[in-house]
Amino acid sequence: MQFASDNTSGMAPEILAALAAANGGHAPSYGAEDGMLRTTALLREIFEAPEAAVCLVATGTAANALSLAVLCPPWSTVFCHEHAHVAEDECGAPEFYTHGARLVPVMGAHGKIAPADLAAAFATTGAGGVHGMQRGAVSLSNVTEAGTVYTPTEIAALTAVARSFELPVHLDGARFANAIAATGASAADMTWRAGVDVLSFGGTKNGCMGVEAVVIFDPAKAWEFELRRKRGGHLFSKHRFLSAQMAAYLEGGLWLRLAGVANAMAGRLAAGLTAVPGLTQKHPVQANMMFPEWPAGTAARAQAAGARFYGWGLPDGREGARLVTSWSTTAGDVDAFLSALAG
Ligand SMILES: Cc1ncc(COP(=O)(O)O)c(C=O)c1O
Repeated sequence: MQFASDNTSGMAPEILAALAAANGGHAPSYGAEDGMLRTTALLREIFEAPEAAVCLVATGTAANALSLAVLCPPWSTVFCHEHAHVAEDECGAPEFYTHGARLVPVMGAHGKIAPADLAAAFATTGAGGVHGMQRGAVSLSNVTEAGTVYTPTEIAALTAVARSFELPVHLDGARFANAIAATGASAADMTWRAGVDVLSFGGTKNGCMGVEAVVIFDPAKAWEFELRRKRGGHLFSKHRFLSAQMAAYLEGGLWLRLAGVANAMAGRLAAGLTAVPGLTQKHPVQANMMFPEWPAGTAARAQAAGARFYGWGLPDGREGARLVTSWSTTAGDVDAFLSALAG
């Protein structure tokens, strides 16, 4: 009954096996290994982007912060949702790696930004000439931090607004696999065809040990990313253990199979939760994360039965919680949790 986060799960067996296989013998370092060639080829194929550049890092924070650093100068602003991971959970890494770019939070229901609100946010920056911050880039998340999913059409509507101001767009895809599994969209339609310039493609939350691929659709930006990654201390010397994970994750569609399990378990959980008296969902459940609100005492009952998740009190005396499923969640976990809630 582990619903605290998808990163509390272990490694998928295929990833562990790939790491064990990569451990044999010696291999070139710093990304010069064959596994990196394979990883790049697989990502180019999946994204239908034969020119795309791929760089691996070990954390989502590094992927996001370094991506933003190549997209916007220090004197510029990054427009993102007010609850974006880059704004709330990265300890200022985007500001640090960009050498001072300022995050501008944009409000929006259910973790999503509406195009009109993005345009309105643009109107408030960049007009001060040399005295003010300049407009820099847009950062979106899919899956969003509220567990909702943008469709390619919704992404394209936002990038169109960004383009009208000549701004590049970054997509935080820490749960990109879950977004693709939820929508059935193609990876290309969800990204470069919808106007995304750089993607943080997550692996860690979905069965890898620790690897994220930064997919840079304009290869001219790749060298700068590589320099920033090295300078920022995120270029692994034993890089083969990053590429081994990512190649195994992509091979044969494992990334989508794992995300499909996580999403299906979230669907089962959400369906079961509708039977809990007094429970409402704060956001639509569309991928592998949900935010139920329930009567006081419900969390304690589930936790006493061994369930693990984040919870908090609400001003009206009720309780809120975040429940996340992963590739390793089983139907038994979900059903046991539902029984515990029923008391
Ligand atoms: C939306 C989002 N982006 C990025 C990350 C990556 O974070 P980390 O640096 O912990 O790998 C997370 C992890 O919680 C996340 O939820």
